Amino acid sequence: MDLFQPEPADLRSLREDAPVHRDERTGMWLVSRYDDVRAVLADPRRFHPDNALTAVVPIPRPVLRVLARAGFSLPPTLANNGTATHADLRRLVARFLTPARVAAVGPRIAELAAERLDRLSGRVDLHPALARDLPATVLLEVMGIRDVDVDALKAWSTASLELFWGDVTPERQHELARPAAAFHQWLTARIKAADPGGDDLFAALRAQDVPIRDAAGLCYFLLIAGQETTTQLLCAAFHAVLREDGLWSRLGEPGVAAGCVEEVLRRDPPVSTWRRVAAEPVTLSGVAVPAGAPLLLMLAGSGSDPAVFAEPERFCPARPHARRHLAFGFGRHFCLGAGLARLEAEVVLRETARRFPRLRLASADRPPMLGLLSFRAPVSVVVELGDQDDLAGGGAAFQQFVGAGGVGQR
Ligand code: HEM
Repeated sequence: MDLFQPEPADLRSLREDAPVHRDERTGMWLVSRYDDVRAVLADPRRFHPDNALTAVVPIPRPVLRVLARAGFSLPPTLANNGTATHADLRRLVARFLTPARVAAVGPRIAELAAERLDRLSGRVDLHPALARDLPATVLLEVMGIRDVDVDALKAWSTASLELFWGDVTPERQHELARPAAAFHQWLTARIKAADPGGDDLFAALRAQDVPIRDAAGLCYFLLIAGQETTTQLLCAAFHAVLREDGLWSRLGEPGVAAGCVEEVLRRDPPVSTWRRVAAEPVTLSGVAVPAGAPLLLMLAGSGSDPAVFAEPERFCPARPHARRHLAFGFGRHFCLGAGLARLEAEVVLRETARRFPRLRLASADRPPMLGLLSFRAPVSVVVELGDQDDLAGGGAAFQQFVGAGGVGQR
């Protein structure tokens, strides 16, 4: 099995035959049953998050020097922080992502989607046209961060994902280290220049006297995790829905778009794996795992575990207990952006289907996939748009959406 391009059949045979399996190449212990994955995530005392952001392919010394010269470091802050500082930092970020703030951004997401949809015609790839930079724009606005070159942010963040989660050669690591370091330097400069009395994330970190190095590490993770994942979710969602007969035309019905998003998260989660370290010897599914063992939690496999989800391969937007999946993790480190990601995907799906009701995939072939250890999603979604819908009707639906205060308030 290729850990960077696993097939559903690989995940199934792991779950059935080797639910806790040591991978020879990487030394990681693959944990694939839902109950085990959840138990690990739920127990921060026995399973530490310290390796969450460790480069999958160790970074060689010359490349480390490039990063070190730029002052690059990722100290424990959020996802990789099992220490007492986690709670305060998490609270600080959570202030920007309260349910009320997220719900309030719904109309803006619809507006950003509409601007992009207005420009489309004929045959298009929805990844660059719609999914690529919309989540970054939304995240920056939610965090109050202004004056950012979104194209530069995307270049820095895609390079960083590949550097830390890719199956990369030393030459490629060298190339990727430059944009990763540039991103970190840019963040450090912006945080240093922030006015602690300001209203953005940088200001909040300064106001709370978070050391600059920690603040830069936190922002580095957040500004990548908070938008690349949602881009991936959008691409995965378009593909999944368009492959199901008749589903596209039902996206405007109450609850259908949200149900589809949940099914994509369960069956094709963009964050396909996540890591922990065993702090002491433990037994999982009868297998003894030594202290210090790096664990690779197969989030993707866990969402298709038939012990928890009936007919797991079926895409079923009305599935009961649809939110039981572990696509956003579980427990102390549960994803802070889950509400925002869900809302973005729901609104963008619905707006696109409303504008282009006859849209369809240009090809029935399987799409090329992003093959990183923890991130997996189609890298392109080529579609034929079909005819546009009557825009007057569309405008009314947008008003209705705004009037209802957005979908995030359920
Ligand atoms: C589809 C989109 C997303 C997916 C699938 C996803 C998935 C995850 C996962 C699996 C974790 C680790 C949870 C754990 O260790 O238990 C996580 C953590 C985190 N995510 Fe997300 N995420 C997404 C979007 C976002 C967005 C939009 C934001 C911010 C706006 C965000 C911010 C965070 C943060 C800050 C953490 C660390 C929380 C902590 O350690 O306390 N994520 N996410």
